[in-house]
Amino acid sequence: MSSKIIIAIDGFSSTGKSTVAKQLAQYLGYVYVDTGAMYRAIALYALQNGYVKKGEVDNELLIKDLKNIQITFQYNAALGFSEVYLNNVNVVSKIRGMEVSSYVSKVAAISQVRQKLVALQQQMGESKGIVMDGRDIGTVVFPNAELKLFMTASANTRAQRRFDELVAKGNTAVTFDEVYNNVVERDQIDTTRKDSPLIMANDAIEIDNSNLSREQQFDQILALVKTKL
Ligand code: DC
Repeated sequence: MSSKIIIAIDGFSSTGKSTVAKQLAQYLGYVYVDTGAMYRAIALYALQNGYVKKGEVDNELLIKDLKNIQITFQYNAALGFSEVYLNNVNVVSKIRGMEVSSYVSKVAAISQVRQKLVALQQQMGESKGIVMDGRDIGTVVFPNAELKLFMTASANTRAQRRFDELVAKGNTAVTFDEVYNNVVERDQIDTTRKDSPLIMANDAIEIDNSNLSREQQFDQILALVKTKL
């Protein structure tokens, strides 16, 4: 039997990281962890508890309250992957809205938030057999991951995908420009923050999927995975 590995998938927002991560986890029988959902759940907590004032996150209040935030995942058999829970409440749909998207990069720039979540993520990968996607998985969370992928696509392609997703979910209030600006702003914050900025690990393999179908991308990545098993 082949040994279990850690697959780290990093990259910009809306590059299809979670799509391929889920496909791989299902194919390999591995656990899938969406670390962006963990940062989003904390951003939601900050919004729900009044820690966002005049468009800014009150870091101090949020840091003080971090010990009361419990982030867990529960497997949803109907979907075939795990969903994120904030203090035992399923927050999957709430964390995808524009409000959370607008603040999550600010929350993810707080070192104490990152320390808490990185420790949790490392625990989840202790027995390997995991596909984890995020921004710092190959650089900080699992620097020794057997396979590291770095996903890219143009900002326009990414905004279009995200816009189509929101519209398909019935969000008719959002405009393409709003989504595009949010994508560009998050890229800027994620790549320039002091703690664990989004960068490609030296030993990661870059996949630009601007012109790849889901199937092409999966086949290309699966071939890479097979070389590591
Ligand atoms: O993947 P996503 O768009 O759901 O991520 C939401 C935000 O969380 C994104 O702006 C960057 C941040 N993030 C991070 O800093 N580190 C991670 N490992 C995952 C996400």
